[in-house]
Amino acid sequence: MKRGSRQKRKAKGAKPVRLWGGRFSEGRDPEAEAYMASVHFDSKLAPYDVRGSISHARMLGRQKIIPPADARKIVAGLEAIGRDIAAGRFRWDPDAEDVHMNIEKELTRRIGVAGGRLHTARSRNDQVAVDVRLYLRDRIDHTVELLKDLVAAFVKTAAGQVDTVLPGYTHLQRAQPVSLAHHLLAYAAMFWRDRERLLDARKRVNLLPLGSGAIAGSPYALDREGVAKELGFDGVTRNSMDAVADRDPIVEFLSVANLSALHLSRLAEELVLWSSAEFGFVRLAEPYTSGSSLMPQKRNPDVAELMRGKSGRVFGSLAALSMAVKGLPLTYNRDLQEDKEPLFDAAETWTAGLTLAARMIRTARFNAQAMRAAVSDPLLLATDLADILVGEGMPFREAHEEVGKLVAFCEKSGRSFTGLDDAALRKAGSKIRKWMLGELSPLDAVDARAVTGGTARREVRKELARWQKLLPEPAQKRTR
Ligand code: ARG
Repeated sequence: MKRGSRQKRKAKGAKPVRLWGGRFSEGRDPEAEAYMASVHFDSKLAPYDVRGSISHARMLGRQKIIPPADARKIVAGLEAIGRDIAAGRFRWDPDAEDVHMNIEKELTRRIGVAGGRLHTARSRNDQVAVDVRLYLRDRIDHTVELLKDLVAAFVKTAAGQVDTVLPGYTHLQRAQPVSLAHHLLAYAAMFWRDRERLLDARKRVNLLPLGSGAIAGSPYALDREGVAKELGFDGVTRNSMDAVADRDPIVEFLSVANLSALHLSRLAEELVLWSSAEFGFVRLAEPYTSGSSLMPQKRNPDVAELMRGKSGRVFGSLAALSMAVKGLPLTYNRDLQEDKEPLFDAAETWTAGLTLAARMIRTARFNAQAMRAAVSDPLLLATDLADILVGEGMPFREAHEEVGKLVAFCEKSGRSFTGLDDAALRKAGSKIRKWMLGELSPLDAVDARAVTGGTARREVRKELARWQKLLPEPAQKRTR
């Protein structure tokens, strides 16, 4: 970029924007500066940077490390800057490298020399760590609510589908009849675990690194606990070297995001399958589908497909940051600036997916009739038939073999095994009798599985009650 214009500016006596320029005298390479700059993405941290700096300045004033009057000026200046940023009035200067220097530079422009005291007893290394932890805490709190809302969507939908029976699948082959509510609550369980993981990670995120300085701590009489309290942290970090080198809070957040995005992706895949004509189990609401530019009849499950596709991006973010930190010696290395884009991208992708998944589930129409047709395949009751033989005293392995032989006979003869009478069964050499076949029905198969965690309707209703108690009313009621 315009070397000439820069030189002209310099020639006119424009002040260098670099806040660390004291020992530098050679010219600048604009491309290298653009390469190092991060303000185009880390300006997202601005509200947190302002908050962190206000608490730091107040503490410096309280501790008489800087004149209290200057601390007051700094705080007022930062508050005004914070308002301008929130209103979109702040002019970001790409030459000022990052969010921290943009704000500090503007502060000094506005309040004069007092602005130069803000960075006392602080390094950008501990400053950026504070900003990111504040950002993460907000993100976690927001995402915890989204996860709760998504779980509530599954619970609410499941409550109306206890009696709907469909085939459960293993290997994508029809396996055994299950209650649709049981299927839906499987997703509630997954996303609830994600929520628990986030809440657990929050404990490690919510510690104040400020006071760690560039690496070794600070020679000033800082009140770290006071700053921590003011910023809502649960405590302070205990090792300055770890605190400035540590990106665990982000890696941990991305790990949870990745796992949760995998859950979203599996859900999305089922919605794609189930909304196909071949399954016909679900009809997604129009806003979550789109048409084809060529084929007039099409209604494609694009939101679900993108949910499946975007899960790869979240994993990519986790992989990118993992690679960025893996070879770094202690402590801060500039590589760590690469933590933010993956974090922001994954956080936003995840949030959008959770929000849309809840809306898709709340508005989806499940087709009980198509499910009933699919579950009426008597082969789904083969296990139950074997269990009846076991009830008659036959060892399970033998019963399995017996039913297997009957299945093969039916496949060869083109007959349905529920239609066989005793004569036909004897002729087929089977020990199975007609009364046993008469005992079989999908609903009985469902209700027979009455262990804790089983699909029996009685158990599913118990589970529903447990979920409903866990979820506060407003989350259950919220619609779109
Ligand atoms: N923009 C930098 C980052 O995100 C801030 C910390 C810079 N520290 C430094 N020593 N250059 O990591």
